[in-house]
Amino acid sequence: MALITLAPDVYSVGVKDPDLAIFDIVIPTECGTTYNAYLVKGSDKTALIDCVKRPFSDEFIQNITDICPLESIDYVIVNHSEPDHSGALVELLQLRPDAEVLFTRAAKSFIDNLVNRDYRHRIVKDGEELQLGGKTLVFQETPFLHWPDTMLTWLKEDRILFTCDFLGAHYSSESNFNDELKDPEAAQRAFEFYYATIMRPYKDYILKATQRVRELNPKIVAPSHGPILRKDPLSYLDYYEERASILNRIHEVRVPVVYVSAYGNTEAMARKVAEGLAEGGVTPVLLNAVETPIAAIVDEFEKASGFLIGTPTLNADVPHPILELVASLVFLNMRGKPASVFGSYGWSGEAIRTVHDILQSMRMKVGPDPIKARMTPSKAELEECVNFGRTFAEIVKAPAAK
Ligand code: FEO
Repeated sequence: MALITLAPDVYSVGVKDPDLAIFDIVIPTECGTTYNAYLVKGSDKTALIDCVKRPFSDEFIQNITDICPLESIDYVIVNHSEPDHSGALVELLQLRPDAEVLFTRAAKSFIDNLVNRDYRHRIVKDGEELQLGGKTLVFQETPFLHWPDTMLTWLKEDRILFTCDFLGAHYSSESNFNDELKDPEAAQRAFEFYYATIMRPYKDYILKATQRVRELNPKIVAPSHGPILRKDPLSYLDYYEERASILNRIHEVRVPVVYVSAYGNTEAMARKVAEGLAEGGVTPVLLNAVETPIAAIVDEFEKASGFLIGTPTLNADVPHPILELVASLVFLNMRGKPASVFGSYGWSGEAIRTVHDILQSMRMKVGPDPIKARMTPSKAELEECVNFGRTFAEIVKAPAAK
């Protein structure tokens, strides 16, 4: 197999998983993914940067041994300990038990519990250098990109930054570098979707990291998913920075009111709730969850100071579009945000309590108490909806909610 070379004695040794349809149980991967790993050979020492998902261990080890015997690996650097990058470490250490594993303090317990036996390891600190002989690796602690353990590894002489998930994309193709892509638009879509579904909750950490990366001014960004970014790597950073600073550009208090409605009753309540919000001085954004793509609703939630959900009850349960919406909140950091529920029902209205309980379990600030109306809301119940909206406006305008 032709070697994939980033710079002299710097190789990509990862694997491709083009058929993967869903990553991490919930994230669709239209173009599969890759698990990139890198080998850096100095004149004295050799380091492996990240591993791959465990089922690909054989192929990964073959890729390494195409370049050098496993016995020559002195260090395995774990930028991030999630099993898609660390799984094959178990096989690697069985074959090369003398390799020293380097990681952040936060990664230690994850790797201890992955390897489940004694192994050589060392915790590295932010800014620490590792000399390989003519190649110097510098570790950059960047927690919460996207786990608490994450770090970036900088190869000083070649100006290559190994970023693991950061700036990655679930995208597999025959091309290894972004300047060789046959369908760059599809790769860009995968990059943006990756940001939206994995990185988006960590805005503050992203903005800190982008500043550091900009100072390094890398020639190549080598993530552990998707194409190696050799052409204009900083443009990808620009995208992260622009998206992560979105809240700095919102100068109003916005509250999405997302609803579904089989017979127009929950919709009538939603419209009155929105009226109350507007009277209370906030900007309501009415969204029908059946007609609005889930990604657009999540984008709207990202700009919101709080949100309200209107749900009827179907067969004593929550209708699927609302369940899907609530499940999608995992892509945002909504902890502590004000939220509440309302809806019309026919028999017993369980959905309202269920959604309320889910929001509470997601640590949102749920209030005021949910309201519900049986069948067609009466004039008095619609007036109650306006008051509900007004009260919610006061809650979101309170300083602690912003
Ligand atoms: Fe690609 Fe967070 O693992």
